[in-house]
Amino acid sequence: MSRQTFSRRALLAATGAAAASSLLPRRAFPASKAKIRIGLLLPYSGTYAALGNNITDAMKLAAREHDNKLGGREIDWVAVDDESDPAKAPANVNKLVVGEKVDVLTGPVHSGVAMAMMQIVRQEKTLTIVTNAGAQAVTGQLCAPNVFRTSFSNWQTSYPCADVVLKDGRKKAVLMFWNYSFGQESMAAFKEGFTKGGGTIVKEIPVPFPTTEFQANLSEIAALKPDAVFVFFAGAGAAKFVKDYADAGLRDKVPLYGSGFLTEGVLRAQGAAAEGIKTTLHYADSLDTPVNQKFREAFKKATSRDADVYAVAGYDTVHLLASALAKVQGDTGAQKELIAALESARTDSPRGPFRFSKAHNPVQNVYVRQVKGGKEVVLGIAQKDADDPAFGCQMAT
Ligand code: PHB
Repeated sequence: MSRQTFSRRALLAATGAAAASSLLPRRAFPASKAKIRIGLLLPYSGTYAALGNNITDAMKLAAREHDNKLGGREIDWVAVDDESDPAKAPANVNKLVVGEKVDVLTGPVHSGVAMAMMQIVRQEKTLTIVTNAGAQAVTGQLCAPNVFRTSFSNWQTSYPCADVVLKDGRKKAVLMFWNYSFGQESMAAFKEGFTKGGGTIVKEIPVPFPTTEFQANLSEIAALKPDAVFVFFAGAGAAKFVKDYADAGLRDKVPLYGSGFLTEGVLRAQGAAAEGIKTTLHYADSLDTPVNQKFREAFKKATSRDADVYAVAGYDTVHLLASALAKVQGDTGAQKELIAALESARTDSPRGPFRFSKAHNPVQNVYVRQVKGGKEVVLGIAQKDADDPAFGCQMAT
């Protein structure tokens, strides 16, 4: 039971009059004036550190747009470096949920960390907003009323790319990926679409996370001579992979495809090596909308860095929370109403239209992007209002 719920019940009991409950100004409890504690379970070290930093800074930017208050309460940020390490996740989640008693838990980036987190937050009923990790189960088999996701599901970012490759006339593909849940699911989603459309997977090359020793595998790809290579790498590892791919002489021979994480936030580091890469993602820097332009300028001004898809999820998370918390006047103890408010919340996202599905995953456009002249150019929409199949989620049926 949250502290807010408890104090309300205690007060009701003290009045000794159940009938008085409707008269009590619930939202005026002193507890609801206390700072709202927002937990951040994110990587601040390792290959995904830049992702964690962009999510965090965009959340704080959005909070400033609400005068640093959510539902009338000032904010206490409580951050833990999860190191993208699933083995440390139970301890890190407990630190935030049980130790720090956060009112809302946000994060993580890594799907393995998210899977461990789900076990705890489902039990503790902590209101949780997943700000990156795309593991299917979060809004599939393990979906829960208290868990929302503002980023994407694996399926949304990988399945639509199969059609892009096939439309380019490429029918024989090699898959290469970091071998943990996200990489595996990403490949499965791509494979489903690719084989359905008549394509063949020539070889699957898993590499351990977060290894960046790609040389031997790149030689193997050169020998296999496929029509296309579809990969999952992100963050610092993606920057290295794309450069190694070009250095191995493959860039002009076998086109590279992936979910958009391959180039997000690392385009500048990849330089000319990234030219021509086509990806699918629910965001692109160049989306030409006033909301996106305003967001990118504000993020740049605040951090001196460029915004990316990770920043977008952080930014939207706080705006959605702000609108839902306003509806319950900051009373996080009113979880049922808060969940209902989040379910119907809308935000003008830099990514375009956004709403939550029944399984609490975003329904959003997925764009086809291509790197041209060092910029991520939007070629079109791969899937409009893409929903996730939410396999196994009881709430979605
Ligand atoms: C994930 O583990 O879910 C993940 C990590 C980094 C990304 C995308 C997904 O860029």
